[in-house]
Amino acid sequence: MSDRYLDFANSGVGGWLAGTLGLPRPSPLRRRAEAGAAPVGPLLLGGSARLSPLLHGLAERWGVELHSKAQDGARYGGLIFDASDIADVASATGLYRYFHETVRRLDPHGRMLVIGRPPEDTATVEGEALQRGLEGFVRSLAKEAREGGTAQLLRVAAGAEEAAASSLAFFLSPRSAYVSGQVVTISGTAAPASTEPRRVLITGASRGIGEAMARLFAAEGYAGTALDAPGAETDLRVLADQIGAEALSLDITAADAAERLVSAARAAGGYDAVVHNAGITRDRTLARMSATEWDSVMAVNLGAPLALTRALLEAGLIRSNGRIVAVSSLSGIAGNKGQANYALSKAGWIGAVRRLAAEAGDGITVNAVAPGFIETRMTAAIPFAIREAGRRMNSLGQGGQPIDVAETALWLAEPDNGGVNGAVVRVCGQSLLGA
Ligand SMILES: NC(=O)c1ccc[n+]([C@@H]2O[C@H](COP(=O)([O-])OP(=O)(O)OC[C@H]3O[C@@H](n4cnc5c(N)ncnc54)[C@H](O)[C@@H]3O)[C@@H](O)[C@H]2O)c1
Repeated sequence: MSDRYLDFANSGVGGWLAGTLGLPRPSPLRRRAEAGAAPVGPLLLGGSARLSPLLHGLAERWGVELHSKAQDGARYGGLIFDASDIADVASATGLYRYFHETVRRLDPHGRMLVIGRPPEDTATVEGEALQRGLEGFVRSLAKEAREGGTAQLLRVAAGAEEAAASSLAFFLSPRSAYVSGQVVTISGTAAPASTEPRRVLITGASRGIGEAMARLFAAEGYAGTALDAPGAETDLRVLADQIGAEALSLDITAADAAERLVSAARAAGGYDAVVHNAGITRDRTLARMSATEWDSVMAVNLGAPLALTRALLEAGLIRSNGRIVAVSSLSGIAGNKGQANYALSKAGWIGAVRRLAAEAGDGITVNAVAPGFIETRMTAAIPFAIREAGRRMNSLGQGGQPIDVAETALWLAEPDNGGVNGAVVRVCGQSLLGA
């Protein structure tokens, strides 16, 4: 769906008017389609040298320059400060100095990353305080970022440095355009590289966010199954034909859904990634909500995908080093009037990914993406004033696109991203809701 204000504020007259009236001027984001999938350089690394060897190797692979010292007059596509060694108030000055001196040199749509450690892994109270404090710092930095800039905190556990590669690539690149102010913990070890073709199951794949996922995963070389409800069969088949996927027309809440999915999965040889994207809303305040509205949302959004996950895991059809990604929602984090059923089901996934992450085993990770306001048919149905507020109430001043959620799911599904497990990553432009 088009965002007329964004277009207007970036037109000649509109830009002048917005500036004169002091109105916000959200910057049209630069995603993979405009700026490519790789990080945009040059990059400037400050602070501890803990990730320096890894970053130098990655920069070479991405074909960008990585400077360890700001060069005269240079402007940067990404600023990285490794704050891993900050363990007291005095050493935190280095963080201030680095960004104070460099933030104005960040190009539009630039990326800022702070590297830290899991606070509980530190040896002292001051250490834990400062490592925890980085979260407040990064969230503020993200709010100060201009012209499509973003900032995140990556907490890299000792020994997990190599496992940070896919997260560094994602958060430094245009792929994470609508993700900002996030804190991601990386632990464990990098999974061995595999050249085998990967197979993915995506539910709710015929339109909206699911369609964007299906197209992106296919473009990245994944084969697999695109699933949607029988009512969406025509669209699903057209899409599946276009991307070379198998179409599975199935209501995930049907009594025989697990059985049918297990046989489709078996025919496919199992999945390396499963993305639970199918979801519905039946919005009404609790006093007015019917039992059917409650039951259907709970079944589609939580009950059925949990049952299908269990069936696939028990049948051994999520392959070793597999990835499970659930689509949660900001409603599940912040709550929303008229969405008690939806918020329960989406918050339920936050608990589910934590438990499944610990229990799945065999190198399988389980994570959730929590989209904020994404421009789809679901949000087009929201009344204008509420829709406009939802769009603007974030640091990037605009709604996200389905591709933003798809990119985040793709990163979580990457074979070498075994270090992120049990996480909930918001795709919301740093929404003020639930922050
Ligand atoms: N659009 C947003 O702003 C937003 C924000 C937060 C979370 N989400 C979540 O993202 C996901 C996708 O949302 P969207 O905006 O693309 O919605 P959408 O309504 O366009 O797509 C949802 C898809 O799920 C399918 N589906 C519904 N019930 C099903 C069932 N019983 N069995 C199989 N498939 C079924 C639908 O047919 C549809 O293709 C949902 O889980 C939604 O809750 C969306």
